[in-house]
Amino acid sequence: MQRGTQFLGCETAILCGAMSWVSERNLVSAISNAGGFGVIACGAMTPELLDAEIAGTKALTSRPFGVNLITMHPQLFELIEVCRRHAVSHVVLAGGIPPKGSIEAIKGFGARVICFAPTLALAKKLLRSGADALVIEGMEAGGHIGPVSTSVLAQEILPELADEHLVFVAGGIGRGEAIAGYLEMGAAGVQLGTRFACAAESIAHPDFKKAFFRASARDAVASVQVDPRLPVIPVRALKNKGTEAFTAKQIEVAGMLDSGELAMDEAQLQIEHYWAGALRRAVIGGDVEGGSLMAGQSVGMVKAEEPVADIIAQLMAECEAALARR
Ligand SMILES: Cc1cc2nc3c(=O)[nH]c(=O)nc-3n(C[C@H](O)[C@H](O)[C@H](O)COP(=O)(O)O)c2cc1C
Repeated sequence: MQRGTQFLGCETAILCGAMSWVSERNLVSAISNAGGFGVIACGAMTPELLDAEIAGTKALTSRPFGVNLITMHPQLFELIEVCRRHAVSHVVLAGGIPPKGSIEAIKGFGARVICFAPTLALAKKLLRSGADALVIEGMEAGGHIGPVSTSVLAQEILPELADEHLVFVAGGIGRGEAIAGYLEMGAAGVQLGTRFACAAESIAHPDFKKAFFRASARDAVASVQVDPRLPVIPVRALKNKGTEAFTAKQIEVAGMLDSGELAMDEAQLQIEHYWAGALRRAVIGGDVEGGSLMAGQSVGMVKAEEPVADIIAQLMAECEAALARR
């Protein structure tokens, strides 16, 4: 983990991946204070809100933390400017290929850039474009996912790149033995989300946390696209009434498209906007039936509300024991 900890400036190269609405000042500072690396989820925040969140996090920790920006955000460059004003040390760019000039703008004020790499070819391209480190995230993860599993991505990408570059592995990690395996393959560290979402310091609603504690791996399912004309970006979340209703909605909208009641762009917008606000309703409002309970398959290993420091200590103990046994 040493390469990872040196790069991140923390004690253990375990990042808590940004989770919209969950990864705010309380969880982020708790992770960094416990020796891990917290990352603020900017999500759809305005520059003003991000400014306040970074300031709030700095008030709670003097340790390094990162800021995750979504590349499609219409004010991406203003958000980068907010990071510059706060001298943020690490910016994670998520949600697609970073637009021209964004990596340069971040590196311009001395911050490190971490990008998500969905394939080996794109990983190489991102490194050529200036990314300082990569996260490879498999489809076991919670939230928006790609089509390939963590184990396969790790086998494709780590042997090629991990000697020369910093690669962090994410998706489906629930125990330290798995961390040991990826470190052995050359990873500089790991990123977990689901395992930290219900930590004692997480502001997620008690009902959201209860849904996690009850769930098993098979309850965390990827959203399904019903009609080829109506694209659905796959999201892994706990199944509930909302996920069932989403399937029904797609069938209904496809029918209205067939009958000419809806034009294509309007139909696609209805699908795209279906989940708007749904994660907030679940995380903050506790709507576990209609809201979006984004969770990875490791949710089955989340059984109780534990302090972040205990989770990290347990992961590290399991990891060390596994490596000692080898
Ligand atoms: C509730 C939730 C919300 C998430 N929101 C984001 C996000 O806003 N941006 C992002 O890059 N990743 C997001 N993720 C992915 C996490 O940052 C992390 O990469 C992922 O959870 C790792 O896989 P795991 O869930 O198997 O631990 C989210 C994950 C969860 C569970």
